[in-house]
Amino acid sequence: MKKPFLLLALAGVVAFPVCAQGTISAKQSEVMNKLLAVYAQKAKVEFKEEKGRGTASDKPFTAEDGRKFYLVRRTWQSGDFTCSGCHTEDPKKEGKHIKTKLPIKPLAPSANPERFVDANIVEANFTAHCMDLHERDCTAYEKGNLITYLKSVK
Ligand code: HEC
Repeated sequence: MKKPFLLLALAGVVAFPVCAQGTISAKQSEVMNKLLAVYAQKAKVEFKEEKGRGTASDKPFTAEDGRKFYLVRRTWQSGDFTCSGCHTEDPKKEGKHIKTKLPIKPLAPSANPERFVDANIVEANFTAHCMDLHERDCTAYEKGNLITYLKSVK
């Protein structure tokens, strides 16, 4: 009779951190890792093709460069824009659209289980927001760094 009890106790210990806030689900990890692999491949090609453009690189992705990119300020259409302008400096927090003032659920996967569960949605938003902010799509290197950063936010 002791064994089922022990198993139940163990299941509780194992299951709790999986459900707890501040963790990334298996699905989110899968989507993010897939995107990172695609971006790593693309970054190599971009680096070869766009050498000198300044935004392509074949360096490994880092959370630090991702955070820098997230905070970089662009003055455009007489406004100051950053990713963090809408998504807040702490991506675990709820954001607010700078124009519509509507709330935006947290961007960090650890704070929002609905983020990074569909690679197509991520790509569509990435491209749209990069166009808004930088008037071009972001490079695979920039996207890879950003995902590496958001993945590291606990
Ligand atoms: C003008 C406001 C605004 C700015 C600036 C902005 N975003 Fe967004 N972002 C949004 C909104 C609104 C959504 C969708 C919210 C939702 O689905 O709840 C979103 C969603 C996303 C998502 C979708 C993630 C997912 O899987 O759901 C990504 C990725 C993203 N933004 C990246 C960026 C990046 C990178 C930048 C900077 C280059 C940026 N955003 C700047 C408003 C903004």
